[in-house]
Amino acid sequence: MSDEPKIDHVGIAVKSLERASRLYRAVLGEAPAGHEEVEGEQVRVAFFGRDGGRVELLEPTSPDSAVGRFLDRNGPGIHHVCLRVDDVEAAVERATSGGADLVPPGIRTGAGGRPVAFLHPGSTGGVLVELTESEA
Ligand code: CO
Repeated sequence: MSDEPKIDHVGIAVKSLERASRLYRAVLGEAPAGHEEVEGEQVRVAFFGRDGGRVELLEPTSPDSAVGRFLDRNGPGIHHVCLRVDDVEAAVERATSGGADLVPPGIRTGAGGRPVAFLHPGSTGGVLVELTESEA
């Protein structure tokens, strides 16, 4: 057990998962480690790399989703940074008592079925921060 913060992945919003995957595949010389549709978030995602410093490409499945609206406002780019913690619930409690807001409220089910929560950029220096737990 350690509270040492680790970057789990960087989430990048893309318009075409297929096109972006082709580029990352070429750069990294390997196929994505995983592909899935996260229905609750209305995104299709591909993960490159394995432990630590992974890249998550996110393509919205609806223009009204959070990632769809992000793309509309900002174009493709870094959407969030995901930190891996031992216990999302405890980390959320620490974050909210320290003044951070969750967006949307509550702990959700993210990629891989893991619990995740998002801290609003307004309370984290302008960066949407995802919290997730270590893979069991
Ligand atoms: Co993510």
